[in-house]
Amino acid sequence: MAVGQGPPIGLVDAETPGQGDHMDLLAAAVLDDDRFRVPESPAAPTGVAWLRGSVPRFAEGERHQRLRSLVEEVVADLELGLDLSPGASPGASASASASASASAGASRGAPAGASPDGTTDLRRAGGGDPTLRLLSLLGLEAGCAADVALVAGAYQPHAPQSREADAAADRLVVALGPRDERTAAVLCVLVQAHAATAALVDARRAGRGGPPVPTTRRLGPDGVEVEVDLTGAPFGRGRHACPGRAVALALTAAALAEPRGDDVRHD
Ligand code: HEM
Repeated sequence: MAVGQGPPIGLVDAETPGQGDHMDLLAAAVLDDDRFRVPESPAAPTGVAWLRGSVPRFAEGERHQRLRSLVEEVVADLELGLDLSPGASPGASASASASASASAGASRGAPAGASPDGTTDLRRAGGGDPTLRLLSLLGLEAGCAADVALVAGAYQPHAPQSREADAAADRLVVALGPRDERTAAVLCVLVQAHAATAALVDARRAGRGGPPVPTTRRLGPDGVEVEVDLTGAPFGRGRHACPGRAVALALTAAALAEPRGDDVRHD
């Protein structure tokens, strides 16, 4: 392996259907190494492939920087909505939620959880479910959650692809519209947040440590795909590091503060 980063820290079974038996598992330090690149997704007209071809997660170079800036704008609006930004004042949530909603291109009236005067009670909006909370902040219907889950399941190029997931991606684009990089940035945030945040909530509830997303992947300098261990770097490192860390932690805290659905008594 022409890595130049020390030996692999071990070998794991590749979880990838159709891939080789094993992939090298490297330490997170390679995420700081420009020679290790994310698999870049080509442009595609529709479906999950369109999303992959339009987000920073699967782009490098100038294109990555441009797409990441768009995501960072969406995340900054969410941070305002969650009262996380340094400048956020108490009570800023409702207007920031409206701003996040407007910047999402959503035009379906008041966000879920909105009270009659148009403000949003963020404790009600989406409750403790991270994806419902994000949908609410973005002014999208709670019914979109099933489509977010479908797309998230097919988001990684090595995950099983399906017509259902493609149709879900296209429905979400219609809900957000127009089909452009800004819309892709909003979808990217929803999809990136979905499984990872749920995994962190589950881990905290179960008292488990370790990174909620255990590994990621890169193409090494020799073009061979490697797995990267996220132990010690749960939100990644380097140019692709998670821009949603603060949002993820706030959503997780909110979820843990809520009683679980199956804990609630109905008598
Ligand atoms: C506990 C929850 C989360 C965890 C553990 C997590 C972890 C990560 C990790 C490890 C990466 C880097 C992947 C790589 O380098 O290959 C990443 C990237 C990313 N995350 Fe998160 N994430 C979480 C929640 C979120 C949330 C809530 C958002 C948005 C609000 C978000 C948005 C993103 C985006 C857009 C990227 C791609 C950045 C890029 O490629 O430049 N994530 N995340």
